[in-house]
Amino acid sequence: MFEIVERSEMAQGTIISNWLRAPKIAKKALPGQFVILRANEKGERIPLTVADTDPERGLINIIYMVVGKSTALFKTLQVGQGYMDVIGPLGQPTHLEKVGKVVCVGGGTGIAVMHPIARGLRQVGNHVITIIGARSKDLLILEDKMRAVSDELLICTDDGTYGHKGFVTDMLKKVLTENKDVGLAVCIGPVPMMKFCCLMTKEFNVKTLVSLNPIMVDGTGMCGCCRVRVGGEMKFACVDGPEFDGHAVDFDELTLRLRSYLAQEKLSYDQFKAAHGHNCACHT
Ligand code: FES
Repeated sequence: MFEIVERSEMAQGTIISNWLRAPKIAKKALPGQFVILRANEKGERIPLTVADTDPERGLINIIYMVVGKSTALFKTLQVGQGYMDVIGPLGQPTHLEKVGKVVCVGGGTGIAVMHPIARGLRQVGNHVITIIGARSKDLLILEDKMRAVSDELLICTDDGTYGHKGFVTDMLKKVLTENKDVGLAVCIGPVPMMKFCCLMTKEFNVKTLVSLNPIMVDGTGMCGCCRVRVGGEMKFACVDGPEFDGHAVDFDELTLRLRSYLAQEKLSYDQFKAAHGHNCACHT
C-alpha cells in the first residue's frame, strides 16, 4: 500500500492534496511527469501529475479535484490509509531550457501541475511571470507555492473577489503586450482555457506548451485511449506527452473525446453517492 502521510482539502473541499509514501517515484519523478493510481483492486486507474516530491522523506504529492466516482473514493482515504497501486513516473518530463522570459498560466488544478514546471523553468535561469486564476477567491489554490517559484505572480478571479477581475486570457494578453521579449508560454488548466490561451499566444507568435489530460487506461502506450491529434498526427499523451505544442493541438477533438463516457461517468458517480449516503466524504 502507498500510505497517505499528509492530507489537506482546498477550494471548499473540492480539491484534495495527498502526500504519499512512494520513495522510488519520489527519487525519479521530474517536472511534467505523472503517476497512475488505483484506490483498490476494483478501482479505476486515474492519472495524476506529480505536483511535488520530497525525495529525502520518500514522498510524492498529488492534487486532484473531486469530479466523479473514483476521485470521490480517493477523497474518502484518510492519513494512515492509502492507494493500492501507484505506478510511475510516467510520460515525458518537461524540456527545461533557458529562453529568458517565460509566462506560466495555470487554472484550477492546472496550477498544481504548473508548480514543478514553473519552479524548474526558474531554476534554469528564466524570469518567470505566473498567472493563476479561479472562478472566485475561495477556489484559488497554491498561491503561496506559486509565488515562491515566480518572479512575478498575477492573480485573476472571474468574479473579482481576489486579484484582477476577469479571465487568465485577459491577463495573458496584457502581459504579452507589455513584455515583447517573452520566449515561451506554458498554459495548463481546463481545455477551453488552454485553447483560448493558445489562440492568444499565437497572435503574439509565442511558442506555447500545454499539458493534456485525455482519458487514459494503461498509461504506457498500449491501449490507445489517450490519443490526441497534434499537428495532424495521432499522438499518445501518456508516452509522447503529456506536454505538446499548444498551437498544434486539436482541442475540439480532445473535448469530444473527453465527453465520450459522460453518461456512464454520471451514472457511476450517482450510484456511488447513493450507496455512501450522507456519510460520504465526497459530498461537498
Ligand atoms: S493510456 Fe493507453 S496508450 Fe496512453
